[in-house]
Amino acid sequence: MPGRPILIVPSVLPADFSRLGEEATALEKAGVDRIQWDVMDGRFVPNLTFGPEVIAAVRPHVVVPFEAHLMVEDPDPMVPRYVEAGCELVILHAESCRHLHRSLAAVREAGGRAGVALNPATPIDAVGHVLDLVDLVLVMTVNPGFGGQEYIATMEAKIAEASTLISETGLPIDLEVDGGIGPTTVEGAVRAGANVLVAGSSLFRDPEGLEHAVADLRQRAETAAPGR
Ligand code: DX5
Repeated sequence: MPGRPILIVPSVLPADFSRLGEEATALEKAGVDRIQWDVMDGRFVPNLTFGPEVIAAVRPHVVVPFEAHLMVEDPDPMVPRYVEAGCELVILHAESCRHLHRSLAAVREAGGRAGVALNPATPIDAVGHVLDLVDLVLVMTVNPGFGGQEYIATMEAKIAEASTLISETGLPIDLEVDGGIGPTTVEGAVRAGANVLVAGSSLFRDPEGLEHAVADLRQRAETAAPGR
């Protein structure tokens, strides 16, 4: 979002799960702004990852903020547990909530900041009437469920739509993108209006290491940011 700070947020999906505390410490040392936990239930997406206990175990290792990206069916009962585990931001998928307005309000009632995510096929209008309840909109740039997938460049039109919709509210809402973000794709996403960049494989697989990968992604994003 023009005027919003560029934030680099690693997904821990490519991390070494046997050393999550050390991996989180390495990410913090590399200068990331937040860490994303991809929570998958094997139903909303065909993969299974982190319960709140795993996140709570890593929480004391670092001070960098955590976000939970809930790719789960019927997330409402889980939300307070992710806030208690140390996630200051909880992101719900519009497609997983029968009563999205109530679910997002409940995230704030649980003491968290709220985000709403959209799968690639879901139009931005699906969140037009809940923007007063969120601190962040997440436009998925891959179909959720796995890391290492190819960036869907046609999502840039939807990122631009989201940017316009958010600007019209005048609210301080961040615009996040997630999936296939790296050195060759970040500029298109930022020019379309994104300011929060989630990246997994492009950070963890950089041959020059995490610190180089984070600095490089931030520099490319800052250069591409509208009005900077
Ligand atoms: C996919 C997850 C993403 C993924 C990103 O469902 O939401 O966070 O881990 O990984 P890359 O950057 O490798 O596409």
